[in-house]
Amino acid sequence: MKIKPFDTERFFAVYEFTAPYILCASDCESMTVDELLALAGVPWETLGSLRLGYTESQGSPVLRERIAALYNNVTAEHILGLATPEEGIFITMHALLEPGDEVVVLTPCYDSLIHVVEYLGCRVTHWALDENPAGGWRLDVGALERLVTPQTRLVIVNFPHNPTGYLPTRAEWAAIVDVVARAGAWLFSDEMYRGLEANPASRLPSGCEAYERAITLTGLSKTYGLPGLRTGWLALQNTEMLQRILGWKDYTSICASAPSERLAEIALGVSDALAARSRAIVAQNLALADEFFERWAAVFRWNRPQAGSVALVGLRAASAEAFAAHLVSETGVLLLPGACLGSDDHHVRFGFGRRDFPSGLAQLEQFLTTSE
Ligand SMILES: Cc1ncc(COP(=O)(O)O)c(C=O)c1O
Repeated sequence: MKIKPFDTERFFAVYEFTAPYILCASDCESMTVDELLALAGVPWETLGSLRLGYTESQGSPVLRERIAALYNNVTAEHILGLATPEEGIFITMHALLEPGDEVVVLTPCYDSLIHVVEYLGCRVTHWALDENPAGGWRLDVGALERLVTPQTRLVIVNFPHNPTGYLPTRAEWAAIVDVVARAGAWLFSDEMYRGLEANPASRLPSGCEAYERAITLTGLSKTYGLPGLRTGWLALQNTEMLQRILGWKDYTSICASAPSERLAEIALGVSDALAARSRAIVAQNLALADEFFERWAAVFRWNRPQAGSVALVGLRAASAEAFAAHLVSETGVLLLPGACLGSDDHHVRFGFGRRDFPSGLAQLEQFLTTSE
């Protein structure tokens, strides 16, 4: 059996480094090494002494200490450093699942969260987010309760959610964890966008804090604006499962890159400042988006995100894919068709984490005005 193509990555591979206006990025504005070191107050020379040997498979102890400090009830032994966040999805699913296992996946979703599980021959059911006619998305925890059975091995969620920007309330999150715990299932909690809550008070406890059979995935790509470091990690209370997952890492990367680990240690020393910088950019861009979507309600159905850096917006056109292809060829503005993420052909993803969002939005507005 072949794994399905990774539509989102294939789409970005065509346009990401050529289209001038990336209006659908999921990462937040990045920075140079100089800027990161200056923010952290670390001199350049400290990088010069870094040895370029292999690194520890589970991740550097210093880095794991800094990561563990982000959570309440885990320590460095509960952290598995990754060579890429993406790797965390691949190796966890391989360590945890057998063909025929029952898995519930929140949909739509980032491609690999469902494709790897399907590839492994699991019985996959979709727990779908519903679009609210008044705007935004809603989650039916009762539906999850009906989908989860005593045979369910794993439930896969991602909050704040890519692509909708949905964030459950604390009560909803507690109810989700409770449903999974009552079934004795594992919970894979993709938290790549955690820290990007419009209202920081609404940030949820991490999966690994909430449940002993939860596996949290996070990394520096989105909230912290450092996707080029490719740094990610898993956090889980169960050290036996951690060792099983680590066994799969021997077949993917063995260990992370030494320069990335060192820069990630430095970045985590200023993690609050990095996240605050990203939140400020997203907030400014969302304010512009609010006005834009009010002006263009005849074309788009604005589903304002509650958290994260992306939104899945309704498009009143025959085909979102055709619209996006025409838009990028005419103007260089890139929107991601929702179908890439398992949504339908009437939605597009916008991303709000980049500083050049206003110029891309202005190009889109000009295109819409001239097409009227
Ligand atoms: C929900 C989610 N999980 C995991 C990843 C993978 O992160 P990375 O590309 O940094 O490996 C992404 C990237 O877009 C994502 O959106």
